[in-house]
Amino acid sequence: MGGIQNGAEPVTRVALVGLPGAGKSAVAASLARRLGWRLVDTDALVEAAAGTPVGEIFAAEGEAGFRRRELEALREAFAGEAPTVIAAGGGVLSQPEAAAMLLQGTCAVWLDAPDSVLLNRVGSATDRPLLRDDPAGRLAALRSARASQYGRASLRVDCGDGDVEEIVDRVVDAIAGTRLPTSGDAAVEVDLDRLAYPVVVRRGAVADLPGLLPATSGRVAVVVDRATGRLGRRVVETIEQSGRRVATITLTGGEQVKTWSHAGRLLDRFAALELDRDDCAVAVGGGSIGDLCGFAAAVYMRGIACLQVPTTLLAMVDSALGGKTAVNLSAGKNLVGAFAQPRAVVCDLDALEDLPERPYRSALSEVVKYAMAVDGSLAPLLDEGVPQLLARDPEVVAEVVRRCCALKAEVVAGDERETGRRAVLNYGHTVGHALEALTGYGDALLHGEAVAAGMRVAGDLSVRALGCPTADVAWQDEMLTRCGLHGAPPLHPDAVLERTRLDKKSRGGVARWVLLERRGAARYGQLVPAEMVRESLTAVLAA
Ligand SMILES: NC(=O)c1ccc[n+]([C@@H]2O[C@H](COP(=O)([O-])OP(=O)(O)OC[C@H]3O[C@@H](n4cnc5c(N)ncnc54)[C@H](O)[C@@H]3O)[C@@H](O)[C@H]2O)c1
Ligand SMILES: [Zn+2]
Repeated sequence: MGGIQNGAEPVTRVALVGLPGAGKSAVAASLARRLGWRLVDTDALVEAAAGTPVGEIFAAEGEAGFRRRELEALREAFAGEAPTVIAAGGGVLSQPEAAAMLLQGTCAVWLDAPDSVLLNRVGSATDRPLLRDDPAGRLAALRSARASQYGRASLRVDCGDGDVEEIVDRVVDAIAGTRLPTSGDAAVEVDLDRLAYPVVVRRGAVADLPGLLPATSGRVAVVVDRATGRLGRRVVETIEQSGRRVATITLTGGEQVKTWSHAGRLLDRFAALELDRDDCAVAVGGGSIGDLCGFAAAVYMRGIACLQVPTTLLAMVDSALGGKTAVNLSAGKNLVGAFAQPRAVVCDLDALEDLPERPYRSALSEVVKYAMAVDGSLAPLLDEGVPQLLARDPEVVAEVVRRCCALKAEVVAGDERETGRRAVLNYGHTVGHALEALTGYGDALLHGEAVAAGMRVAGDLSVRALGCPTADVAWQDEMLTRCGLHGAPPLHPDAVLERTRLDKKSRGGVARWVLLERRGAARYGQLVPAEMVRESLTAVLAA
């Protein structure tokens, strides 16, 4: 029996999807013959089971009746272990259960051709219930309704010219030539209603990009931080090899890039490249490039897809995932932005090789934050793993990044727009943001360093205000110290206190605090008397 190898992974199930006239049945039959695999043609199975043609099932039972029968047929296709080629019905992906089967653990291939070619093939279309009366108009409507569903397929193969055997050649080449995501790689699935996206964490993960880009995207704008050198180049090459046109936009990362004028220039570049709504952007950099590119993609043509390839530890464990995008105004940080979830997050741990020690260590405050404010069960992993984490042992780093992404995904999925619990992720940030503002958002104090100091203050305040066990806060402070995140900058407590009133999360000049009842159990929206805050600030800043 033949087979298709995709990198080290054997592919054992291929499903062909696409509009009427794409030739799914003929290509699937020929592909199955060539590979010696089982063929399941869902339309044919439905007809055999019902004893009538698809058109009559539509007439008698409506589309809903047909979809029910189609789902049954699909379940049959998924029964057993035999390698299978599936010719799926054109509208199959409109059913969530069917889509889940076909898009996970299966190599879904979108066969596509221009409408004129498809119309020519379907002819008068008397046996195509969805194209009756006005085939051209109906086909265009089907395309616009289904393009985003087909776009989730792993691959898109052109079936506009060539005979069936040539199209089969193309399908086989495409599967073998693109590294498809495997279930083991996509360690984290972010599941917001309707907005599921994979988060891949491993060395060499950028090889997965072609399979994660929207299949509709012929053009890709890669917005890359010049500091990422080799990784940036690898991203561009990998996407080019998938046959897409790539434009590279190189910027100098850092807070200074998160401006309205940089966003405007980036949008002009998107327009000059003639990106359309089916195309996408890829952000390769730290949180600054991710926030800027994510914002530009969120507003360009009212939103195009954006993939995040975070290259700093901070971006991997925090900013790349969650859908917050923003630029700064002179009045403050992140004052203009949009919620726009990325299409996928690809954490290639190779990126961390070139990351200097200070930004690497400073991000560990966010890791400790998850252990304190979201899930205390992360603590044992840190207790044991800190030496390896500091030595950037790939396995430990991968495990920590995955855990943090999973925790953030879980929090974000429950509260995408931060109307409630998502606020716990701001633990340590009320004072952290004040310290950053007072030190000018620069190298004097990195974000993670500011957050570490802010967590020390919030921990102390948690003991005073909520009776958090001192041992829990001592664990936090010691863990921060072990990560090389020592004290706080020499600022006057009153100056910091004053600045916390300006925090975005303040209401009417009164700061809302995220405080701990104990490690792993945070409460947000806490009001605390100013005197108590001053005591905690004094205790930490004077230490
Ligand atoms: N959207 C969110 O949810 C969210 C969450 C947290 C932070 N943020 C934002 O993220 C930004 C901070 O992110 P950051 O810490 O990644 O900063 P950053 O993007 O400024 O990167 C830090 C520095 O490292 C360089 N760099 C990036 N990748 C590198 C690599 N692989 N090797 C060597 N150098 C590299 C950059 O050029 C920059 O000089 C802030 O603007 C913050 O507001 C956003
Ligand atoms: Zn942060």
